[in-house]
Amino acid sequence: MTSATAPLLKLSGVSKSFGPVTAVAPLDLDVAAGDFCAILGPSGCGKSTLLRMIAGFIEPSAGKIAIAGQDVTRLGPEKRPTNMVFQSYGLFPHLTVAENVAFGLALQKRPRAEIAERTQEALRLVRLETFGERSIDRLSGGQQQRVALARALIMRPKVLLLDEPLAALDLKLRHQMQEELRRIHQEIGGTFIFVTHDQSEAFALANLVAVMNEGKVEQIGSPDRIYLHPATLFVADFVGETTILAGERRKGRVRLKAGLEFDSKGADGPVRVVVRPERVEVRFGGIPAVVTDAVFFGSSLKVSLKLPSGEMLILRSSDANAGEHFRPGANVNVGWDAKDQQVIDAP
Ligand SMILES: Nc1ncnc2c1ncn2[C@@H]1O[C@H](COP(=O)(O)OP(=O)(O)OP(=O)(O)O)[C@@H](O)[C@H]1O
Ligand SMILES: [Mg+2]
Repeated sequence: MTSATAPLLKLSGVSKSFGPVTAVAPLDLDVAAGDFCAILGPSGCGKSTLLRMIAGFIEPSAGKIAIAGQDVTRLGPEKRPTNMVFQSYGLFPHLTVAENVAFGLALQKRPRAEIAERTQEALRLVRLETFGERSIDRLSGGQQQRVALARALIMRPKVLLLDEPLAALDLKLRHQMQEELRRIHQEIGGTFIFVTHDQSEAFALANLVAVMNEGKVEQIGSPDRIYLHPATLFVADFVGETTILAGERRKGRVRLKAGLEFDSKGADGPVRVVVRPERVEVRFGGIPAVVTDAVFFGSSLKVSLKLPSGEMLILRSSDANAGEHFRPGANVNVGWDAKDQQVIDAP
């Protein structure tokens, strides 16, 4: 049974092993229609394997994949309402741009007028209207990337799967294509699943992020939830700049080595406290710290501080004039609001 609120894509207990290697440990993931979901994690953590299982190129070792209420676990890629854009583009060099884009529809033997119309529409979406007759080898990397995208979009997939599609582009082009992807996602109201190892890219694009590490999904949530409330030390460390401080919980009270104490529910034992740099500020009565370095980034100032425990703390100030207070060697007192810290039980 499906309802209006049922997820468009539902993974239940999906896993994949290659012999002794667990590429993807059993995971659950719900993606709603219209979501832009990023799968984020370091190289080798299982992102492509997960995406290929959703696309149907790899059969899961266990678990179930449903799209729009239909069990597709045993269906081949061509029978699924999905389409995939590969990192290597996989374009046909001997065909023109338009022929590449039209390829899937031609294979389905659609009427010629429909193919022409939908090709033009797909080329318009990626802003290559005038490039239809060009040969692939006379395109830039960014343009080839757009052709690969148009070739997938023309099939109007319920779920568009993108495996590090921007990895080969230089930074500027990458940012440009991120904007384009956002625009296309909004314009067609589609559901995108996007693999990346770049945290800033995941945050720039997605409303839902799944962070993976060594085959396991460590956290699924909105970018702000993941940034401000990382569920694990791996997520805290992998996502954005962070300070991780060591401490101990005894009877509902945490004592940090750095000298701070506060109430915190949970089991007795070692804990780590995660604080984001822009939440740290100079505070009367705060932890005494010594500035070791301050770097000016134009829009902000990044300050490294040494705490009494010997641990380092990062502070980011959006006040570019604050540099005077943060000369190396200066003594400052720093603190942050309890709501801005995340306490994680140490392993
Ligand atoms: N066909 C295969 N046979 C054996 N092991 C495989 C196979 N495909 C992937 N693996 C292993 O599974 C793990 C996950 O690989 P996967 O390609 O999914 O990682 P990834 O997160 O996409 O990495 P990258 O960011 O480098 O593309 C790796 O340890 C990889 O070596
Ligand atoms: Mg990969």
